[in-house]
Amino acid sequence: MPPTNDFIISPEAEMFLDTAVPNTARIFDYLLGGTINFEADREAAEKLLQIAPSLRKWVRLRRAFIQEAAYTLHNQSFTQFLDLGSGMPTENHLHASVPTANIVYSDFNPVAVSYGQSLFAEFVNIDYIFGDVHHINQILASPSVRRLIDLREKVAIGLNALPIFQTEEQNSDLAQALHTWAHPQSQIFVVFQTYAGQTKSDRYEKALALSQMAGLPMRLYTLDQTIAMMQPWQPSRVQPLTQFLGLPDDFITPADQEGIGLSFYAAFLTKKNTT
Ligand SMILES: C[S@@+](CC[C@H](N)C(=O)[O-])C[C@H]1O[C@@H](n2cnc3c(N)ncnc32)[C@H](O)[C@@H]1O
Repeated sequence: MPPTNDFIISPEAEMFLDTAVPNTARIFDYLLGGTINFEADREAAEKLLQIAPSLRKWVRLRRAFIQEAAYTLHNQSFTQFLDLGSGMPTENHLHASVPTANIVYSDFNPVAVSYGQSLFAEFVNIDYIFGDVHHINQILASPSVRRLIDLREKVAIGLNALPIFQTEEQNSDLAQALHTWAHPQSQIFVVFQTYAGQTKSDRYEKALALSQMAGLPMRLYTLDQTIAMMQPWQPSRVQPLTQFLGLPDDFITPADQEGIGLSFYAAFLTKKNTT
């Protein structure tokens, strides 16, 4: 007899929630120094680090960007944030920098969503919702977004580490939909992970293949390609991530660039007033 369950999770979600199977949200949690990870996640993360040793450094710099960007935007009177592909909402995420702002986090990874929902259950100004950016209009129409984001005001939108998991067309469609939805003067804040356009090293090809196997194929674009995909959002500030964070230039070594000119840029893009 088949088991009777009132709550049936899809086979896909089941795989995500199985702690014996590595999960990208928990792998990133481990790389960030968090505690929501299991043996299988740690083993997978260590394998990934053998292929791309710079990953831990970049992942942490990105969280430092998210906090600094949120703080900067809050000082520019942004009081509402929509974050897409949020991952694990550990203590180094948006709410650590702007605890009083309205925040909607979202992701399509059930581990990150269920962790976020339990973490923010008692918060009136923070929700964590399930959301696949390929169906962005469903996210934008969700009760949480309607409750926490006032469309008469500018909104700050985080897309950190998302463009590398999308095709050019998916990135363009997402940028266009967000531009149509957001109030003028809204901003996207994002770390662009780019490469210099040269031939990818064997090691990096392996990292890309691994991401494919994990069900989240990674794609690398140059900085120009990335900015072009974000149109009609206008870049208002784009600079090397280390510079934005006030770190010395030699903080990133040639080895961190993985032989392909791997670089990370802090970027702010604005929806200009339409005349
Ligand atoms: C590398 S993590 C980054 C997490 C966080 N934004 C940060 O910068 O620390 C990328 C996240 O994007 C999410 N993601 C990838 N494709 C997505 C999609 N189509 N819809 C929603 N989330 C997606 C993944 O599940 C993952 O949690």
